[in-house]
Amino acid sequence: MQTGQTNTEGHTRLDQLPQWHALAKHREELGEAGLRELFERDADRAARYVVQVGDLHVDYSKHLVTDETLRLLRELAEAVGVAGLRDAMFRGEKINLTERRAVLHTALRAPRDAVIEVDGEKVVPLVHAVLDRMSAFADRVRSGEWTGHTGLPIRTVVNIGIGGSDLGPAMAYEALRPYTRRDLDFRFVSNVDGADLHEALRDLDPAQTLFIVASKTFTTIETITNATAAKRWLLDGLGAGPSAVARHFVALSTNAEAVGAFGIDTANMFEFWDWVGGRYSLDSAIGLSLMTAIGPDGFREMLDGFRLVDDHFRTAPVEANAPLLMGLLGVWYGGFHDAQSHAVLPYSHYLSKFTAYLQQLDMESNGKSVDREGRPVDWQTGPVVWGTPGTNGQHAYYQLLHQGTRMIPADLIGFARPVEELGPLAGQHDLLMANLFAQGQALAFGKTADEVRAEGVPEEQVPHRTFRGDHPTTTLLATELSPSVLGQLIALYEHKVFVQGAVWDIDSFDQWGVELGKVLAKRIEPALTDGTPVPGLDSSTSALVAEYRALRGR
Ligand code: F6P
Repeated sequence: MQTGQTNTEGHTRLDQLPQWHALAKHREELGEAGLRELFERDADRAARYVVQVGDLHVDYSKHLVTDETLRLLRELAEAVGVAGLRDAMFRGEKINLTERRAVLHTALRAPRDAVIEVDGEKVVPLVHAVLDRMSAFADRVRSGEWTGHTGLPIRTVVNIGIGGSDLGPAMAYEALRPYTRRDLDFRFVSNVDGADLHEALRDLDPAQTLFIVASKTFTTIETITNATAAKRWLLDGLGAGPSAVARHFVALSTNAEAVGAFGIDTANMFEFWDWVGGRYSLDSAIGLSLMTAIGPDGFREMLDGFRLVDDHFRTAPVEANAPLLMGLLGVWYGGFHDAQSHAVLPYSHYLSKFTAYLQQLDMESNGKSVDREGRPVDWQTGPVVWGTPGTNGQHAYYQLLHQGTRMIPADLIGFARPVEELGPLAGQHDLLMANLFAQGQALAFGKTADEVRAEGVPEEQVPHRTFRGDHPTTTLLATELSPSVLGQLIALYEHKVFVQGAVWDIDSFDQWGVELGKVLAKRIEPALTDGTPVPGLDSSTSALVAEYRALRGR
């Protein structure tokens, strides 16, 4: 393991920086100072440790930090050049080093008059031209003007994609359900398990079904396999020839050639570009299913929300820069508290897929163990991101959050107003939010042994009923979950992940870790189907393959 080296540009490795050492020393000095003590020492921290970003109220007072911790973290961010890398990203520089690509999801929500260039080409006009085409198409589907092969309007839209070509639109569709056209049905198919497509299609009428095949590369095996099966289902169901495909299939891709080869007319393709990473692609053509659901105006409102946080990230001072703060807090816990994971706990049923979406955003970006120069890192990088909506988690895994042995920082996300159409059920909202606030309080401040004793609890039970506390949380509050607020939330996390990657000195924009499994699966499949020997297969996997074939009676 190489440490203490400088790279060719002369920058010192993270764990050799004086700012890193200062944080380590500071951590020692803080010792076991817990949140009760920190709140006692600093009476107005609840008022000071808050940032407002657009509609998002970000409260980070329940963190194991002091003004000094925050100052040292900001100095670290400055020493590693987070702001410089951020500006390079916004300018369109090729900061995705291993793929030699610009990282410009921010251009997807740039205003029409913004000027951003990649290889000398102005990209904002391209973005808006596609958005305009998407809007016209979405309007035609929504109005019933776009008809299927038999002349009937579309009733169901099925998005076929995986990873970034699925999670974004699927999550956002769920999040914005109250804003969707309730008379249109939207389904999302991703898994290569035939059960996914089977369940999505079993009650559908092909004559009124539109498939959106979403794939940046248009080579992803899961998507192409499902799209091929969907095409077969459609043509069989309609009893029609390949010409029917044009009325029932559109493609979202960067790869016009592969789209054409698949049999989709490239006139029905909505394009995007290699400078849009899959996990950052919701704002691109990949959002077409969402746009059809919520309408072009709702989609643009969501883009405005993203842009608001982009502007904040670019211009807000370091002390009040929410993505910077959230990113640095994660660096603090991973680097100096040995935290292994991060829970995202939305107190909104509509955000049921939000954490799954963030898993790809965060873990595919920062699940890396070599630095930008390819040298092994000696510090923790991306955490395991997990969580489900409260209050369900409270009756499942919160036990471990409260009384387990691990440090698990968490984000609690909630909204002041319930969705209007809930009618009398809106009355349950205060109870939902009371749970959010109660959990933040319990996690932070726990319950001491003396407090337990004072309740008359028998001594032998006291340790079991004591809550250590000191579990840090960020509370994110907004008035309501609108398209703009969803955009703001996603952009906040995108930039938080960026900050962490910048500090950890890793390439947050490639994803080579998904490749090996893909290659091996391709090699193994023929062995399962017809027993073709796989050269170099290890003995364990070989035995499993044999067992599988025996169980299948092959
Ligand atoms: O396998 C990982 C990945 O490349 C993701 O990064 C991406 O979002 C997903 O596959 C889908 O890729 P595509 O849009 O090219 O089908």
